Amino acid sequence: MEFYEVINKRRSIRQFEDREIPRDVLERILDAGLKAPSSNHQRKWELVTLTDKSIIRDLAALIRPYPCRIQEPRTPQQEMFKIAYPRQRSMVEESACVILPYFKQKYAFDNPKNDYGLMDYGAAWALVENLLLAATAESLGSVVHIPVKKEPEQIKTFMKIPDGYYLPALVILGYPAKDALLPAQVKATVENRVHWNKW
Ligand SMILES: Cc1cc2nc3c(=O)[nH]c(=O)nc-3n(C[C@H](O)[C@H](O)[C@H](O)COP(=O)(O)O)c2cc1C
Repeated sequence: MEFYEVINKRRSIRQFEDREIPRDVLERILDAGLKAPSSNHQRKWELVTLTDKSIIRDLAALIRPYPCRIQEPRTPQQEMFKIAYPRQRSMVEESACVILPYFKQKYAFDNPKNDYGLMDYGAAWALVENLLLAATAESLGSVVHIPVKKEPEQIKTFMKIPDGYYLPALVILGYPAKDALLPAQVKATVENRVHWNKW
């Protein structure tokens, strides 16, 4: 798939077919993730990649769907909330693969010695975006879930992750369900969001 077609096609998909992803496809996607730019030229990433449905289901049990009272959405954002909030667990359960892209960081975010702030976190997100784009190029659906509240610790314990590693997002992959719900996209264009040479 041509690069700009990939960019234009990528959407967050939260409903998946019950279908495995071939190993070679996953390896290409993982390789694309690992080619991302990294702070300090280090690439201190470890991609825990789950394809075993029983492990994926146990992981999903740790994720809580968000409450959402929106019945009749009035904006694309509300539409997204209505689609996304109740599916935080089911989108993991239905997926064929969950990638946990752990990154190493010397000091925790809240440690005063962490002089380099979000550098390692930023690099981890470059990796995440590469995974999402590569998945799109492979005709897969993808979405991220940001672990919240107790989820980061619970996932870390469940997966026996060593100390010093942090998780920016769960990257969830699968073949899109035929009727997968999508909110209207918010229009951010060169015309309405770009400021040439001054604000
Ligand atoms: C930093 C970040 C965090 C996100 N967290 C979640 C999440 O926890 N759960 C979810 O379903 N989608 C999550 N998303 C996906 C967004 O909802 C989605 O990208 C947005 O609605 C735009 O839709 P699109 O991806 O189809 O263009 C996240 C996206 C980003 C960039």
